[in-house]
Amino acid sequence: MSHVRSLVCVNCGREHDAREFRYFCLGCGGFLDVAFDTDEIKRSLSRDDIDSRPPSIMHRWLEFLPVENPQLIDVVSLGESVSPLIRAGRVARKLGLKNLYFKDESRFPTGSLKDRSMPLVVLKALEFGFSSVSIVSSGNAAASLSAYAARAGLQAVVFVAGGHSARLAKIRSYRPTLVQVNAPYSETESLYLKAREHYGWYDCNGLINPFRLEGKKTLAHEICHALGWSVPDIVILPTAFGNGLVSAWRGFLELEQIGWTSGRPAMFAAQPENCAPIARAMEKGAETVEPVTPLPTVANSIAVGDPAIGGGRVLKVARESGGGATGVPEELILEAQALLAGEEGLFVEPAGATSLATVMKMLAESRVDRDALIVASITGEGLNDPEIVERWAPGTQTIEPDIGSLRRVLDRIQDQ
Ligand SMILES: Cc1ncc(COP(=O)(O)O)c(C=O)c1O
Ligand SMILES: [Zn+2]
Repeated sequence: MSHVRSLVCVNCGREHDAREFRYFCLGCGGFLDVAFDTDEIKRSLSRDDIDSRPPSIMHRWLEFLPVENPQLIDVVSLGESVSPLIRAGRVARKLGLKNLYFKDESRFPTGSLKDRSMPLVVLKALEFGFSSVSIVSSGNAAASLSAYAARAGLQAVVFVAGGHSARLAKIRSYRPTLVQVNAPYSETESLYLKAREHYGWYDCNGLINPFRLEGKKTLAHEICHALGWSVPDIVILPTAFGNGLVSAWRGFLELEQIGWTSGRPAMFAAQPENCAPIARAMEKGAETVEPVTPLPTVANSIAVGDPAIGGGRVLKVARESGGGATGVPEELILEAQALLAGEEGLFVEPAGATSLATVMKMLAESRVDRDALIVASITGEGLNDPEIVERWAPGTQTIEPDIGSLRRVLDRIQDQ
């Protein structure tokens, strides 16, 4: 039995039994959030218990998750473990920062942050007795869902807008029912929603399925745990629909509420300038987000022009926490990606590097205290978009197998 109290409508507050399958409020059709009995969590668990547990995400944070049948964890899990919180070295020195950390979400089984929340929704599909799970995605979420469905023996149906070669290869290998739609995300999504209604798949999208946010919130738990239960000053997350940011915030509040931490971080959303509807709305002081038409961006996996209700939620959290939302230019994203790889040994996809690009932009605008404890989440591995490396990585040199050729090449490199 979990510590979930109910599913609460974000509009009218109506409560629903969380053990019954449902996406939306029975009264008003509003989105549902999972509400926990935090007193129960506090009574049943201590910070010391956490230290004694294995690093498997769902086992470690079980009491914070809406899992009714813990035996299913090992049925769906691919061994996704707590992700590393790495103290920046050379990049921090270069930027003149004392306490910069990278939360490396790129090393999960399918190479992106999606593996933090996907096993939980696949587990919920098993609990509710579904045989098919579905998602519409620009790539990373489709790969993640396909992998976890394969593991759990469920059919995955994934709708992919456009499609990038490396990600598609990854997705195809897990053998989902793959529907590649030759249209922008919004049209792909409308088709997907009609199909889901018709075929009755279990929808794993973060703005529909209330359990996705709960899976994502453990990011906050892990950050605080790794920092000896202290709270960062600033947390920066690459942002598309804003589910990650909103749920991490929820995680920080939860920990404060049960008395394991004190204080809250300022939450910042990082977006590519070429598709930054949330950052635009923030600048204008708006409460809702106007959709934009995305321009091409290297950060394609977070290029969402219409984050719908998610955008408004990010604005609220960013303001309430004293944070913000920033659009970063293409060159800065590539520079951040190259710095992460060349100076820190972290090869991440451009979308994942937007958080460091945001740090760099905020420093250039003197918007950040150099002593602040900053956590920048890096959210997808470099091989998700291998072709982008051509924009900044040095070329290769092929030589004849003799020492003269080798010497000439080495001398040339040293001269550079
Ligand atoms: C690489 C990467 N980073 C970050 C995100 C964040 O997405 P969201 O703001 O919807 O949590 C995504 C999701 O599409 C992603 O693929
Ligand atoms: Zn309602």
